[in-house]
Amino acid sequence: METRLLSVNPDSPDPNVLREAAGILRGGGVVAFPTETVYGLGADALNAAAVGRIFAAKGRPARNPIIVHVRSIERARELVSQWPPAAQSLAEQFWPGPLTLVLKKRACVPDVVTAGRDTVALRCPNHAVALALLDAAGCPIAAPSANLSEQLSPTRASHVVRSLGGRIEMILDGGPAAVGLESTVVDMTTQSPRLLRPGAITLDALRDACGPVEIVTESSTEKEAFASPGQMARHYAPRTRLICCDATTAEMTVVAEVRSGKRVGWMRWAGGSSIANLDRGRRASVVIKMPTGAEAYAARLYAALHDLDAAGLDVIVVSLPPDTERWRAVRDRLRRATSSGTPASPARGNMTDPSGDGNG
Ligand code: TXA
Ligand code: MG
Repeated sequence: METRLLSVNPDSPDPNVLREAAGILRGGGVVAFPTETVYGLGADALNAAAVGRIFAAKGRPARNPIIVHVRSIERARELVSQWPPAAQSLAEQFWPGPLTLVLKKRACVPDVVTAGRDTVALRCPNHAVALALLDAAGCPIAAPSANLSEQLSPTRASHVVRSLGGRIEMILDGGPAAVGLESTVVDMTTQSPRLLRPGAITLDALRDACGPVEIVTESSTEKEAFASPGQMARHYAPRTRLICCDATTAEMTVVAEVRSGKRVGWMRWAGGSSIANLDRGRRASVVIKMPTGAEAYAARLYAALHDLDAAGLDVIVVSLPPDTERWRAVRDRLRRATSSGTPASPARGNMTDPSGDGNG
């Protein structure tokens, strides 16, 4: 299939381009589009066959449900059978924005979207292109991140081209995503809301808006895997081996790997001293100095991992930011990017995060 790549102004997209994209969606096709978090791969959420095409293009397991994007609270309420006061508070405060609410669904939402669950995840994105596309299509848009299943999420159109080019009808290029990490996901079907996936909307901000919020801790129990289906171990991962550790260990690891002849990618953070001649003129290694603020770091994270992953390196070493609340989402994604299914050997400096950090 030929994939058309069209540029759109991220602040005021061309209505003609949107009409074309909306036409594809209404016809049961799939279109990748920018949101403030990551690029999404969209289809008409009320068309089961179209949503099936998302699963096929991504190679996504059928058991992993998809977020439905809506234009407003009113449109959201048409898709759910319950709308608790806490959902109203959170939506009023954070929509449009990087917050996804899981609620009891109505029958109009096809089973393929929710992987057979009786709940649906809803989000109103804060991006002019995504909102205009919702308007033009006139339907809710089911959209997971626009990457092959288990690969890094895309924060630029070029990431989508690399991953899904030839598999989908159209990609709208609206430039780099501002937030850079997938939305915060909160389950609103339990007594107290539960944080299923950390993101830009922090736990503190959620609690300020709606009272107590529980954290679903990393666990291998089936019950919790069921609560948070997309949060299964390896996710958001580069193909290159990834090691995460504190700044000092990271620096030692980088030196050791370079000395053993490896081509190393190093995502430095504050605290690591600069190693000028990393590999003594061989120039086989790459250093990316990451921003020291959590929001700027998040916006840069996936692009840095994509770049290093494409650089033909033997290993990527990440100096971890601190284990504090404002770094929760970044550390969560880094942890997922490192889990390999086999226990990490501490001697390798692999990231361990016993943490209190909670969510998986
Ligand atoms: O920022 C985002 O959320 C992006 C943009 C495109 O909106 N989307 C995204 O989608 O990250 P995806 O499919 O990569 O992640 C969706 C997450 C997964 O962890 C999935 O399991 C969870 O939301 N989810 C979806 N429906 C759910 C449901 N009914 N119950 C519990 N979790 C659900
Ligand atoms: Mg994803």
